[in-house]
Amino acid sequence: MATVRLDRVRKIYPNGHVGLDDASFDIADGELLVLVGPSGCGKTTLLRMMAGLESISSGTLSIDGHLVNDVAPKDRDIAMVFQNYALYPHMSVAENLGFGLRLRGKSRDDVERRVRDVARLLELENRLDSKPAALSGGQRQRVALGRALVREPKVFLLDEPLSNLDAKLRLSMRVEIARLHRQLGTTTVYVTHDQVEAMTLGQRIVVLDGGKIQQIDTPMNLYARPANLFVAGFLGSPAMNFLHGRLRRENGWILDMTHASLMLGDLRTQSAALERRNGHDIVLGVRPEDLQPAADEAAALTAVVEVIEPIGNEVFLNLRFGDKPLVSRVLPHQMPAPSTALQMGFATDRLHFFDAGSGMRIA
Ligand SMILES: Nc1ncnc2c1ncn2[C@@H]1O[C@H](COP(=O)(O)OP(=O)(O)OP(=O)(O)O)[C@@H](O)[C@H]1O
Ligand SMILES: [Mg+2]
Repeated sequence: MATVRLDRVRKIYPNGHVGLDDASFDIADGELLVLVGPSGCGKTTLLRMMAGLESISSGTLSIDGHLVNDVAPKDRDIAMVFQNYALYPHMSVAENLGFGLRLRGKSRDDVERRVRDVARLLELENRLDSKPAALSGGQRQRVALGRALVREPKVFLLDEPLSNLDAKLRLSMRVEIARLHRQLGTTTVYVTHDQVEAMTLGQRIVVLDGGKIQQIDTPMNLYARPANLFVAGFLGSPAMNFLHGRLRRENGWILDMTHASLMLGDLRTQSAALERRNGHDIVLGVRPEDLQPAADEAAALTAVVEVIEPIGNEVFLNLRFGDKPLVSRVLPHQMPAPSTALQMGFATDRLHFFDAGSGMRIA
């Protein structure tokens, strides 16, 4: 069990590229923290620095209160599952699982016992004698995970551990990892670029973009109060709708767009912060579930239904409002006909406002 603390950790690669900039956060003992962000944002860089495989250019990394910047990987008591893990093809599952322990000089009995325990946990018991080539993708992935689990480390670092699996297997392994974490209670950092995986697994999520931390919070807080346009657009599928315009107050709030003016109404909850933006350019953010067909008096805009995507339990309406595509998430029984003009209203207490210049949330 362990706590981890990063204080202004930076990575500058020899070619001058800043892989990670000024990362500061704490990981609580037993927490499952998810790092999420697009390809190249610095996720693997950060994990490799925690594991000691990559030097830290500046800042400090502590585990359980001890500075570990210069501690060798093998002395950090951290186990990492790599993004492109490779199993030893000539070794059986049991040998693959036990390899790291044997390398560390554990006794044969010890290795056998740990391998058996982990194989049971990952339901690999009846595959212990198989070679990796004879395993399915999911089984291989579990062996890769098992190699880290057998070590009983202080911290697990998992770098996109499910990326090689098909959608269905990903889903069941995701639940599996959540269950394992609950059972073992080991401090874990889980890297993914998949926002659904991040939302469902993470107790807290660190959102990274371009080597910079954008926001750290619980999944639901990130969803409800994204700190900037990047986080707002990254989390949520279909993505949040963005409407650019100038904010103006008459009887109620109005957003003047190039081709239309939207009546936003009262907006009592945000009025103090919005008051300061009266007459300024902003970006209005509306989640697809907060844009709904509405009767006359509640309508903010009229949009044409272009494409209807029925998912089964819900339907995505791809709409066109002037030159602007919008997405609305509705229930199946609300499905309109294509090409219909629909009046749409906003859930006004769940609207998001961002500064058009800085992209930061207006709170
Ligand atoms: N050894 C290196 N030298 C120079 N630049 C590097 C090196 N390793 C990584 N980078 C760069 O640092 C940035 C972060 O890379 P990193 O591998 O951490 O991204 P990532 O978030 O893990 O992406 P992915 O989702 O594709 O795995 C990228 O722009 C990458 O090109
Ligand atoms: Mg990576």
